[in-house]
Order: sequence, then structure tokens, then C-alpha cells
Amino acid sequence: MPQNTTKIKKCLFPAAGYGTRFLPATKAIPKEMLPILTKPLLQYGVEEALGAGVGNMAIVTGRGKRAIEDHFDISYELEHQIKGTSKEHYLTEIRSVITKCTFSYTRQIEMKGLGHAILCGEPIIGYEPFAVILADDLCDNDGGDSVLSQMVKLYEKYQCSIVAVEEIPAEDSNKYGVIAGNEEESGIFRVTDMVEKPEPKDAPSNLAIIGRYILTPDIFDIIRETKPGKGGEIQITDALLAQAKKGKVIAYKFKGKRFDCGSVDGFVEATNYFYNKSKA
Ligand code: UTP
Repeated sequence: MPQNTTKIKKCLFPAAGYGTRFLPATKAIPKEMLPILTKPLLQYGVEEALGAGVGNMAIVTGRGKRAIEDHFDISYELEHQIKGTSKEHYLTEIRSVITKCTFSYTRQIEMKGLGHAILCGEPIIGYEPFAVILADDLCDNDGGDSVLSQMVKLYEKYQCSIVAVEEIPAEDSNKYGVIAGNEEESGIFRVTDMVEKPEPKDAPSNLAIIGRYILTPDIFDIIRETKPGKGGEIQITDALLAQAKKGKVIAYKFKGKRFDCGSVDGFVEATNYFYNKSKA
């Protein structure tokens, strides 16, 4: 079966998590729909994928997440009310996204972790390499290539799984998957080890994985065999380690900024950043 040579056409968005750090806001509103200024986090992610030439969105949702499907659809009543008025321009971006992308949805019935959420996307992805964006990691490269664009270009060369990494302070290692690897080119590492949320003394480096991945489809069989790890969840880091042991994972120190919008501090930081940018 052809495996690692195809172009990246689909982007998976795991969006089934409970978003407990944003309760009570996330009781009835999906975390992915929280806005930075006027745009929901997930729309930023979808626009990043589209800008990277990846037009088919595969979204893994869960209970209480229907607002996501409604957002990426036409609201006839709203269209009718707003058409021809001075407010119509507010809909320009989302209309364009809806026209240019396809959206497919599946549900994660039990929240068994990120690895499991990715496996839930298998029927939509099929057997081809694909991108993954965690919408709560909001990235911006100030007009340059987006983080996913950078990774799609890298995939053309390396034809294996790729994780985006950034340097973190040692004390934060227990919030991330952390890699060890050999630097093959400046900022590009062949991964030799990866550990999910290590204590600082056990962290193999200061390079943490953020929410951008390109995965080859053999990952699905590996996830199926992966036992629950840290926190009792099926971790994508554990599955990627099996690929890394065969030399098939690249870690890429991306160009740009990344905000952890799954945390209140990161969310406020992103809001200020995009607000200042909008006024510049
Ligand atoms: P997080 O751990 O950051 O999200 O998962 P969370 O669980 O929603 O947030 P908190 O910690 O309770 O505040 C990272 C990403 O993986 C998805 C989440 O939706 C988020 O985009 N995820 C996580 C799933 O889709 N399913 C899961 O079982 C776990």
C-alpha cells in the first residue's frame, strides 16, 4: 500500500476535550470556540491549514460541541439579515473558509486522551499522511509561512512524521511531551526518545512538543497497540516513540510564536498580542 509519499490533503483537529481549565465558560461552549478577539480558536487553526494547502478538515468532536459544526456552515437567517448592510464584511472571512474547505466530523465517545482522539479520526483520514492541529495552541508567524506551512514543506523532504517543538523553561517540562534527538540541520532533529510530561529532572531536553504534527498513517496501528500512559490516557507521544525508535520522527523548531490558549495566561497573552497587532 502506498504510504509516505502522498501530499498532505487532510488536517485533523482533535476537539473533544473537556477544557476544564476554562470552566465554567466551557460548560456549554466548546473550548475551541472561545474567541481571540472576534475569531474562534478553531477558525484560526482551519485558516492555518488552508494557507498550508491542506483543504480537507477532519474534526473530532464530542458531546456538547455542536456549535463547531454550526460555525462552519451557512446561517441563512443571519445571511438574510446582514446582506447589503454595513456589517456584511464581518462575515467575509468565515464565508471564504466555508467555500474553500470541506469539513468532516466524527465523535470521540469517551475522552481517552489525545492519541485516542487521533485514532477516532482514522475513518476520515484513511491511509495517507495527514496534519494535526490542536486549536488551543495558537501560532502566528507575523506574515511569514505559518507553522503548518513550514512543516508541510519539511515533509516533502523527510517523508516521515514531524512534530513541532519549542524550547521551554525546565520547570515546565511536566506540561509537555519532551524529545531527545540528534540535530541533522539547524533546528531539525532526528528524534531518538520522547517522554510525556516528565518531571524536570527526567526531561531528556528542553524541547517540548506543541500542537502541530504531521503523521504517517502507520500511526493508527501503533495507537491501537498503545496502552494508556501518563494520566491513564492514550498518549500520542507514546505512539510516536515507536516510530522514533525506527528513526521515523523529525522534531522541528518552528519559526514564529505560539500561545497556549488552553491556559488562561496564554489566552490573555494571545488576546493582547492579536489586539496590538490589529491596531498596528
Ligand atoms: P488538552 O488536555 O489541552 O485539552 O488536550 P482538554 O482536556 O480539553 O483541556 P483541560 O486540560 O481539561 O483544560 C489537547 C487537545 O486534545 C484534545 C483537546 O480537545 C485539545 O484540543 N483532546 C484531548 C481530545 O480531543 N480528546 C481527549 O480525550 C483529550
